[in-house]
Amino acid sequence: MPPKPKTKKPDLSKKLLAWYDVHRRVLPWRAPAGKRADPYRVWLSEIMLQQTTVQAVGNYYRKFLAKWPDVKSLADARQDEVLAAWAGLGYYARARNLHAAAKVVAHRMGGKFPATAESLRALPGVGAYTSGAIAAIAYDEKQAAMDANAERVIARLYAVVTPMPKAKPELHAHCSALVPERAGDFAQALMDLGSAICTPKRPACVNCPWTDECLARKRGIQEQLPVKAPKMARPLKRGAAFVARDKSGAVLLVQRPDKGLLASMLEPPLGPWTEDFPSPVKALKQAPFEAKWKRRPGIVRHGFTHFELETEVYVAEVSKRPKFKGDWIAAENLGEVALPTVMRKMVEHGLADDGPLFRSSPLLRSRKP
Ligand code: ADE
Repeated sequence: MPPKPKTKKPDLSKKLLAWYDVHRRVLPWRAPAGKRADPYRVWLSEIMLQQTTVQAVGNYYRKFLAKWPDVKSLADARQDEVLAAWAGLGYYARARNLHAAAKVVAHRMGGKFPATAESLRALPGVGAYTSGAIAAIAYDEKQAAMDANAERVIARLYAVVTPMPKAKPELHAHCSALVPERAGDFAQALMDLGSAICTPKRPACVNCPWTDECLARKRGIQEQLPVKAPKMARPLKRGAAFVARDKSGAVLLVQRPDKGLLASMLEPPLGPWTEDFPSPVKALKQAPFEAKWKRRPGIVRHGFTHFELETEVYVAEVSKRPKFKGDWIAAENLGEVALPTVMRKMVEHGLADDGPLFRSSPLLRSRKP
């Protein structure tokens, strides 16, 4: 274990909370100072914030809350509505677990969220980090809650040089030992400090409440921490997408299987994704039905966790909708259905050169970073 900062733990947390009382961020899911947050809102936001930035989550959180203001209304929603509202946030198993957990709370727990980290962990999609974060923020249970920002702060405060993610238990142990009575504020203060001051590059150490105690700063290694594990090379897969439109501009989408990657989400008809993709002539043999398929110039690229994908996009306009299992979605409704980002990119690429009908569709306007 690395040496500890000399300042006593209560003083470290006091300093951070004093900073937080002045500089706390206003976030849509955050209760006003001194108020307890609604556990439903805390849970919803923490699930959304798993592997997704605060900036990307804001509008989704507001949309969910407007549609489903409490856990019962979310439990009663149809799965395709939940997936459609989630489309674009990624990691879609989170949306399915969110819906499953809402049903557990609404139907088996009388609509009341469990009030401890341990009991929260019984809910689908709530792991060690999320249960700690919800318990701390909603109930002030003394739990460490660490997002990537908080991990960076603690790695620097204690000069932890173990590479991530191996360092996680060490960081968690350091953080747990610091948690004061105001556990929820402390959790959020760490996240805010990481976001505003203890940034990945050029941290603003002179403005940091822990500037005197930070061991990484003392050694001048703050910008090198936390140490990242070397990136694994991801295989490249390639495939073809077939974007068919009818005369009205509606696009054919089909549903993916209900298990596996992007389960139950929509997509244009696709060929298989392989590491030895055939020539365009052979790719055309993968088309879902006969039509005047034309290849759009360019490639759609997308990074999945375990592989990279490059897709060629073929488009055809059909005068009559062919018999094929799927739904023809009007262009103006494409932004409202469960189309994940990778599939949205393919459809957008297929429609990119079209006239005002497509340019004004919500799909094309709501491009996400
Ligand atoms: N990342 C994970 N949980 C968060 C929260 N409650 N506030 C800000 N960023 C977060």
